[in-house]
Amino acid sequence: MDCTFKIFRFDPQEDREPRYQEYRIEVEPAERILDCLNRIRWEQDPSLAYRMSCAHGVCGSDGMKINGVCALACQRLARGYGQGPVLIEPLPNFRVVKDLIVDLDPFFEKYRSVRPYLLPGGEEPEAERPQSPEERGVFDEAIRCILCACCTAACPITPQNEAFVGPAALLRAFRYLFDSRDAAGRERIQVLDSRNGAGGCKSHGKCTEVCPKEIDVRKAIGRTKKRIFDEKRGQV
Ligand code: SF4
Ligand code: FES
Repeated sequence: MDCTFKIFRFDPQEDREPRYQEYRIEVEPAERILDCLNRIRWEQDPSLAYRMSCAHGVCGSDGMKINGVCALACQRLARGYGQGPVLIEPLPNFRVVKDLIVDLDPFFEKYRSVRPYLLPGGEEPEAERPQSPEERGVFDEAIRCILCACCTAACPITPQNEAFVGPAALLRAFRYLFDSRDAAGRERIQVLDSRNGAGGCKSHGKCTEVCPKEIDVRKAIGRTKKRIFDEKRGQV
């Protein structure tokens, strides 16, 4: 099947304004958008820039906007878009470095701001810190996050409040807040209890809609808000 791709192009070192460039390729039934981008780059235009690595939905590096929806290019079959034109754009709300590559430094800075690691209390145990399957099950889903940034890019709050940490960071905060081995709940809540933290989320649910790992991000943030509420009322 012949398919047309309309791709966002912008090299800040050379271009004054972004532009869109069209490419036409013969798409095989099993090819994904990422395969098509690879073929365009290899066969037609080596200057096209985008990120990719694993090509199997694991590394999270090929997040982009495909026909207006934030997604991983390696998880979308091209045939699902018919003959196109398929509109391919960089993730919104991030500075474009070149073409489909965006600057994710602010995303990872916000991620780090929620201290995305275990902060256990008490004495160092001799062996491991045990956790029951039920305790682990609480954040089983959240642990699937691959930090692709699709949720944060798609979140309507992101462009309204630059300081908002965004759904991916809030999901990671949830993961540790609800970890039975973590002892820093109060400190975590202090960081999260603001309009730049969990309080900034207005439950639009775009994060859950676009998450390529099918994580209910909105629900996790909702549970975090409830935990903050309970903590403030002295119920935890
Ligand atoms: Fe990507 Fe989903 Fe993690 Fe957001 S929650 S960064 S969309 S994997
Ligand atoms: Fe790794 Fe798509 S290339 S997730």
